[in-house]
Amino acid sequence: MAKKGKNWIKGQLSDKYYKKSKREGFRSRAAYKLLQIDLKYNIFKIKGKFPKKILDLGAAPGAWIEVIARKYLDIPLAKRYRNFKIIGIDLTTIRPFEDAPFIETHRVDIFSEQCENEIIQPEKLFDVILSDLAPKTSGDFRDIAKQEAMVEKVFEFTKYLKKHGNIVVKMFQSEFTNEIMKKWNPYFRTLKRMKPPASRESSRELYIVGLNFI
Ligand SMILES: C[S@@+](CC[C@H](N)C(=O)[O-])C[C@H]1O[C@@H](n2cnc3c(N)ncnc32)[C@H](O)[C@@H]1O
Repeated sequence: MAKKGKNWIKGQLSDKYYKKSKREGFRSRAAYKLLQIDLKYNIFKIKGKFPKKILDLGAAPGAWIEVIARKYLDIPLAKRYRNFKIIGIDLTTIRPFEDAPFIETHRVDIFSEQCENEIIQPEKLFDVILSDLAPKTSGDFRDIAKQEAMVEKVFEFTKYLKKHGNIVVKMFQSEFTNEIMKKWNPYFRTLKRMKPPASRESSRELYIVGLNFI
């Protein structure tokens, strides 16, 4: 991420989702984006069941992982899957989660061969793929290109998405958003775009939500 200035820090401290995340013990305010997307689209229900295997791309510091882990731990003990797994991937280290053996994290570039060949492929298929990937910003047109390349890469990873699975992918609003909607439309029974209330108005980010992979 680009170095944050004084104004950014001031804005952050007065931000209601930042404050909420501190109160509720999430690692970042990003948690509320996922919670709001889930509230609207029920992404963690596949054919009536909680997903067994979830891939989280661009997962640091780990707030989305915390959201999923809390949902999983809300399931009565007797009904929890023994083989439940969340795999979080990021360029930066994700601080370990205590007492959560079902969480696996990797410090790796999503564009590397290692990421696909050694981490993703051996898992075979995921029920849900999430991407909150955001490139290091340089503040010019290159940011959009980098972000578009990431969205394309995530689309490639749908070869590891189970039939009926769901996907959530962050992208910046641009003409490319319409292209993506057209390209992805045949692959999901439902394809939507959403800007959750927790996403800053000043930000061009939005989320593509694909439900029920065909
Ligand atoms: C907005 S943050 C994600 C926040 C996260 N969803 C959470 O809940 O804590 C975006 C992340 O994307 C990661 N990222 C950017 N480019 C990446 C790449 N090529 N491979 C892996 N992670 C990358 C960044 O390091 C950053 O941690």
